Amino acid sequence: MTELVPVISENEIKKIVKDTGLKISEDYKGKSLVLIGILKGSFIFLADLSREISIDHEIDFIAVSSYEGTSTTGKIELIKDIDIDIKNKNVLLVEDIVDTGNTVSALIDHFESFNPSSIKICSLIDKHERREVSINVNYSGFSLEKGFIVGYGLDYNEKYRNLSAIYDLKL
Ligand code: IMP
Ligand code: MG
Repeated sequence: MTELVPVISENEIKKIVKDTGLKISEDYKGKSLVLIGILKGSFIFLADLSREISIDHEIDFIAVSSYEGTSTTGKIELIKDIDIDIKNKNVLLVEDIVDTGNTVSALIDHFESFNPSSIKICSLIDKHERREVSINVNYSGFSLEKGFIVGYGLDYNEKYRNLSAIYDLKL
């Protein structure tokens, strides 16, 4: 039987999103900023985070596929690229969760070819157990050792994205 074990409450998420938005607003004050959300998992986090950032910023999305079920396929396929010109701009990649690090690492390589001024990573969750590529998550909301997490944009086979809190999925 499938069980959803609460991990991060709606209030805890709100606080971390607010604090992260404040920090980003301070760090990028007087600078360009482009938030690039990695679809689909980051859509709710990015929508909330953007409204907690008080400085002007642009928003775009990129879509990649890497996962089926709860195990990685190890391959990253680009489904939709960005439309905004990021040359000489500061890019902040917004991710729901960094797991093996393969997605973020491949995307950094991809965006570097457009010559932005900087590329940093903001992830709601930084999950360590299965990390394969050394990744420095510049803005990390929650640190988790392991588990398969759903809710607040994160899915299991496209389900549970709509939940307001974050749960550990026990299959
Ligand atoms: P990575 O390339 O292994 O870092 O995986 C990144 C992507 O895998 C994330 O953007 C998620 O879409 C998905 N993913 C990794 N761990 C989880 C999880 O615990 N729950 C839901 N999706 C996950
Ligand atoms: Mg994702």
